[in-house]
Amino acid sequence: MTETDESGIDLSSRGSFKIADAQTQDTAMLAMVLDLMAQRPAVRTLRAWALEQLAPLAGETAVDVGSGTGEDVVALAELVGPQGHAIGVEPSPGLRAEAHQRAEAAQGVEFVDGDVGALPFAGESVDVIRCERVLQHVADAAGAVREMARVLRPGGRIVLIDTDWATAIVHPADPAVLQKMVDYFLADSANPYSGRRLRGQLAAAGLEITGETAATWIEAQEGARQGFVSMMQLTALKAGVITPTEAETFARDLADAADRGAFHLSLTMYAVSARKPA
Ligand SMILES: C[S@@+](CC[C@H](N)C(=O)[O-])C[C@H]1O[C@@H](n2cnc3c(N)ncnc32)[C@H](O)[C@@H]1O
Repeated sequence: MTETDESGIDLSSRGSFKIADAQTQDTAMLAMVLDLMAQRPAVRTLRAWALEQLAPLAGETAVDVGSGTGEDVVALAELVGPQGHAIGVEPSPGLRAEAHQRAEAAQGVEFVDGDVGALPFAGESVDVIRCERVLQHVADAAGAVREMARVLRPGGRIVLIDTDWATAIVHPADPAVLQKMVDYFLADSANPYSGRRLRGQLAAAGLEITGETAATWIEAQEGARQGFVSMMQLTALKAGVITPTEAETFARDLADAADRGAFHLSLTMYAVSARKPA
């Protein structure tokens, strides 16, 4: 069941990062979600690890694919300096505009339209690539990794970061209701188990693996009443996957648990670094 508003816009597309929904998404809401995620220690840990592995040098060309609000492009620009290029590839016009605005004061930052499956760069022209939490939205993720390998110059470095949704734990909840919600959520996702596939995709693209790590995001007790939990519950309810009574019980069980300090929600993200043989 798809819910539409009075103009016929699919409401589910407003909270979507899919390229197909780029024209109808609610940019302000997505930017808020990305800002919240960016504060999580697990995300900060993996971003710092990625920068260490990539070690961008002054004068190099560094690209962030699926750059969202542009925070990581600004970080790359600081390292490649005025002689280098820091470029964010972002297919969403709204997020691109938001990133432009936020990076106004930064030097040498550029945001361009593009798809990870067909990057707007010549072969072997990029020194450094990062791509974070993008491939889970891409049906042909292996093809996308081959495309990133194509544009990387020999000796160039790449880091991929992504979630594996099989690692999500929500407690306490009725297992049958939770399973219905998770099944719906995963069926709607192009590549929900992206995290475990990153290493193999880089190796299959002819790149040498240089490192791998993981970080688990653990939600605070307040999260039982907001954020990911609310989004999961509302989406499943709107889609008719769970009944209003099941939705209410799910929310109440988690909120009651949080009041006792017993709520648990966690999710693991993986990062893999590689280089193109010289
Ligand atoms: C969850 S957000 C992550 C944004 C950013 N990398 C970060 O970590 O904050 C996913 C991003 O991938 C972009 N995206 C979705 N499909 C894409 C595609 N086919 N090619 C490039 N970017 C894509 C979305 O527009 C969005 O900016």
